[in-house]
Amino acid sequence: AEDGYDLWLRYRPLPADSATTYRANVSQLILPDATPTQAATRAELLRGLSGLLGSTPSVSTSVSADGAVIVGTPASSPLIAGLRLKLQGLGREGYLIRSVSVGGHRATVIAANEDVGALYGAFHFLRLVQTAQPLAALDLRQAPHVQLRVLNHWDNLDRHVERGYAGESIWDWHKLPDYLDPRYTDYARANASLGINGTVLNNVNANALSLTPMYLEKAAALAGVFRPYGIRVYLSARFSAPIEVGGLKTADPLDPQVQRWWRDKADEIYKVIPDFGGFLVKANSEGQPGPQDYGRTHADGANMLADAVKPHGGVVMWRAFVYSHEEPDDRAKQAYSEFVPLDGKFRDNVIVQVKNGAIDFQPREPFHPLFGAMPKTPLMMEFQITKEYLGFATHLAYLGPMYEETLEADTHRRGKGSTVAKVVDGSLHKYALTGMAGVANIGSDRNWSGSQFDQANWYVFGRMAWDPSLKARPIAEEWTRMTFSNDADVVKPIVEMMMGSREAVVDYMTPLGLHHLMGNGHHYGPGPWVSGGPRADWTSVYYHRANRDGIGFDRSASGSNAVAQYAPPVAREFGDIKHVPEKYLLWFHHVPWDYRTQSGRTLWDELVHRYTHGVDSVKQMEQAWNGLDGRIDAERHAQVATFLAIQHKEAQWWRDASIAYFQTFSQRPLPEGQAPPA
Ligand code: GCU
Repeated sequence: AEDGYDLWLRYRPLPADSATTYRANVSQLILPDATPTQAATRAELLRGLSGLLGSTPSVSTSVSADGAVIVGTPASSPLIAGLRLKLQGLGREGYLIRSVSVGGHRATVIAANEDVGALYGAFHFLRLVQTAQPLAALDLRQAPHVQLRVLNHWDNLDRHVERGYAGESIWDWHKLPDYLDPRYTDYARANASLGINGTVLNNVNANALSLTPMYLEKAAALAGVFRPYGIRVYLSARFSAPIEVGGLKTADPLDPQVQRWWRDKADEIYKVIPDFGGFLVKANSEGQPGPQDYGRTHADGANMLADAVKPHGGVVMWRAFVYSHEEPDDRAKQAYSEFVPLDGKFRDNVIVQVKNGAIDFQPREPFHPLFGAMPKTPLMMEFQITKEYLGFATHLAYLGPMYEETLEADTHRRGKGSTVAKVVDGSLHKYALTGMAGVANIGSDRNWSGSQFDQANWYVFGRMAWDPSLKARPIAEEWTRMTFSNDADVVKPIVEMMMGSREAVVDYMTPLGLHHLMGNGHHYGPGPWVSGGPRADWTSVYYHRANRDGIGFDRSASGSNAVAQYAPPVAREFGDIKHVPEKYLLWFHHVPWDYRTQSGRTLWDELVHRYTHGVDSVKQMEQAWNGLDGRIDAERHAQVATFLAIQHKEAQWWRDASIAYFQTFSQRPLPEGQAPPA
């Protein structure tokens, strides 16, 4: 059944004529299988090519006809060694794919320095066939621009995934380490196809159980499944673990006993997982323990853990999502205020993990001011793949444009062109360590991600982690071709839907820079009226600040002055109501209801217009999708159609609720032609 289980690795038969063409280019495979990675590479090529071409290519040891595909490294393949290819500069994970001639025969070579590079190259080659690209004159060189390309699973060790909308966790801790669900292998294949090379198994909020011997054995079993695919396992480490599982009285990072406990713990972990990646830590945020509990800094805490894993080659990913007990004047400012003074104080195996924006994975946020502001401390990107604030799994929102918007934002920290992408790939500040993390949307659902289209978010994350300069549209097209069809009249409407989908969500939830107006706690559905409660920054009124005069959070010099955390040219742009991009208007300014927006409408009219536009965009997606009936297998088509109907209904709910509520402040009529809220 077409339930989406195969993700973008579907390998369904190509149309007969193109299969014939491809068969001429893939007549035989010449590739080693002495190591687990080589075996995985061979298995994937056989599986993919036989599925796509309708016949299994023969595996040989020498080139005997046109159309051989030769895969491997100089060490694993005498043929490749003999070709004297230029593999310098490709590093451990890079590869090249080239059309060559061997003994007078046309052939394609997929070559790398290490097995894992050849595996990545094989997936790339399959993608070329899947997306109907010509194979005749190939000359591709690829190497990742970012070193740590990791998923963060928010698994709570009890099958529950925090903010997960795709069923239960795929980690079945109860049956591990003995039962290795075949899903784990398919998970590894999917990640390797994108170049994702790390996975943090447990939630940043999880308890310290994951560090006990019983759980380490389970993690080691998973690491064993993932290793052939080039994926390392990491764990979230709860800062107070020395107390909770170590029986110590303190977790003070400067206490020698605590330091010793972590060193011993690291030694213990590396005994069972020799290639363990390291720790991810959420500290002193949302009530989690951390070094500040003992009057120490984030650097003190991170460095202690870094020293523990250093002898084994591990890293510490220390999160900058700090969100304190005290109520700040502007929550958006906290991470910058706490971290910038620590620049240069971290060990060289620490990387600070920063969310894309300063609040919390909103449908739209300006880039986080920390990017570019810590030249002496490697910073890595944290994107959310799971759609916590974007309508969960039923709302279609392709996040590629959101990732792209953040990555191409200009920090101006080293002059014009100092993009966030250049911070993340390390080129701006010559970081020795680089990374990108994505909070996974993977669960036990047959379709893995809760919906067919949410698979694209896993996909685009992986592709952009490999190369942050890639663009959302070509990736959407690639994914659509692999997932649905190569037919232009299917690809085009789907790519258009995807490319407009996130903007639609912004419009019907939080237009013009509004943010954090979702229902309290669950973050689903409208709740702009949320007020009261234990703290101001858990309310929506804290963020939108609507009153009789206007709406928006003044973060300019006359307000919280959060704009001052950006480089001067950016601060000037964002801080000036005349120059701020309209998409961030209410993020940075409190704006009068009658303010003229770029369309010529007043702010109030524009707000209503945007809400309605969001609903209309969903209606258009629905129509476009319905037009594909019969062009896509019935099962997946029906599921997407139903989800779009849900999204349509709920976009309307968002619009009506938001307009009705904000109208109590604006006290203005709806603009002409706009339907009153239901
Ligand atoms: C969001 C999310 C929390 C999560 C937090 C984090 O606030 O709602 O569930 O714990 O992000 O990233 O740590």
